[in-house]
Amino acid sequence: MLPAAESHANDANHALDPLSAVTHPDPYPYYRELATHRPFFRDQRLGLWVAAGAREVATVLSHPDCRVRPPAQPVPPALAGTAAGDLFGRLIRMNDGAAHAPLKDLLMPLLAAIDPAAAARRAAALAELMDAGTAWSAERINGVLSTLPVVTLADLLGLPVAVDRATAAAVAAHVAAFAAAQSPLADANAVQAGVVAAQWLGNWLANAVPAAGPLPSLQQAACAAGIDAQAVAANTIGLLVQACEATAALAGNSLLHLGRGKALPGISPDQLVTEVAVSDPPVQNTRRFLAADATLCGHDVKAGDVVLVLLAAASCGGMADGERPWTFGHGRHACPGDRLAQALAGATVTALLARGAAPAVLARAFRYRPSLNARIPHFC
Ligand code: HEM
Repeated sequence: MLPAAESHANDANHALDPLSAVTHPDPYPYYRELATHRPFFRDQRLGLWVAAGAREVATVLSHPDCRVRPPAQPVPPALAGTAAGDLFGRLIRMNDGAAHAPLKDLLMPLLAAIDPAAAARRAAALAELMDAGTAWSAERINGVLSTLPVVTLADLLGLPVAVDRATAAAVAAHVAAFAAAQSPLADANAVQAGVVAAQWLGNWLANAVPAAGPLPSLQQAACAAGIDAQAVAANTIGLLVQACEATAALAGNSLLHLGRGKALPGISPDQLVTEVAVSDPPVQNTRRFLAADATLCGHDVKAGDVVLVLLAAASCGGMADGERPWTFGHGRHACPGDRLAQALAGATVTALLARGAAPAVLARAFRYRPSLNARIPHFC
């Protein structure tokens, strides 16, 4: 017979599946078991293949027939034909293939050139600007988590976001609405809000004259390479969207880690964030869509099949390639913002702690936002 604690863990595991694990209080024993004993399998009930072992996750993310969108459905049906769908369809994150390579080749070095330490300093300065001076509440903490990283990134790119608190808040709110509309869980209202947000962001960007920063040279280089200006604009907004939920989740989970007393005493914000990116990862999974029949991890898979790639399960064995948390992906579409995101999350935690946020109190009242791939705490 199993000891009581283990049998309890197994009961809890029993209720789990690879999608409900994302927002489960402690999915890690379940993930570890999958990674060890079922590294690649078909979940008949969900109708998905599941990659859970580190080797299998890397194989799927490197396979040429595993695409980021179903080939016949470049845009989610709910967004198709709207301003939000138009924007989504241009994102390098959501496309494979040669057409997007030139822009990607410009965006990657642009992000890599942003110094994480300078980004953290800028976040600290912007936290001052955005300080509303009202009493600290869970709601305000949720607000800082979802706003500060986005506003800092926009500012670092050279966009005039830090002109006043209202502009900063409006940009962040529209980025959040557009990000939320991309979720398969988005209802009609969320989709509609995402469409309005995409239009608003498009107009704002069209009228925003970048003061400094790397955007003007990106725009010039893209123009010289014959890249459509709309694709550049969409991907600029795309960077802010990528920064939004995942970075908020990374900072939020770091506060929880502190609040649960799991962090080593004296740990720096940067170390804390890296530890959390591995042990309680904000992005728990991503998906790949088969473009052709193939043999994948020893299994015959068919064109049209979907693989759920459990980054959080692979993460139970440590980092990818010994240096990069799995939560930032791997292979062709791996996150180019990983170092920057960790710096922004660390700076956000630092700003909140400096303003009196109490992790132990926060850890007593929170829930995870409904999501099929991200573990984003919402403090109550
Ligand atoms: C400053 C913040 C961030 C920026 C600018 C950023 C940017 C991007 C971009 C442009 C991509 C698409 C790359 C491609 O398709 O070639 C991407 C992918 C990705 N990002 Fe980030 N990101 C940020 C924060 C984060 C955070 C905090 C996480 C998780 C902790 C994360 C996880 C991922 C993952 C998992 C992918 C790959 C998705 C896939 O392969 O399906 N990102 N990111």
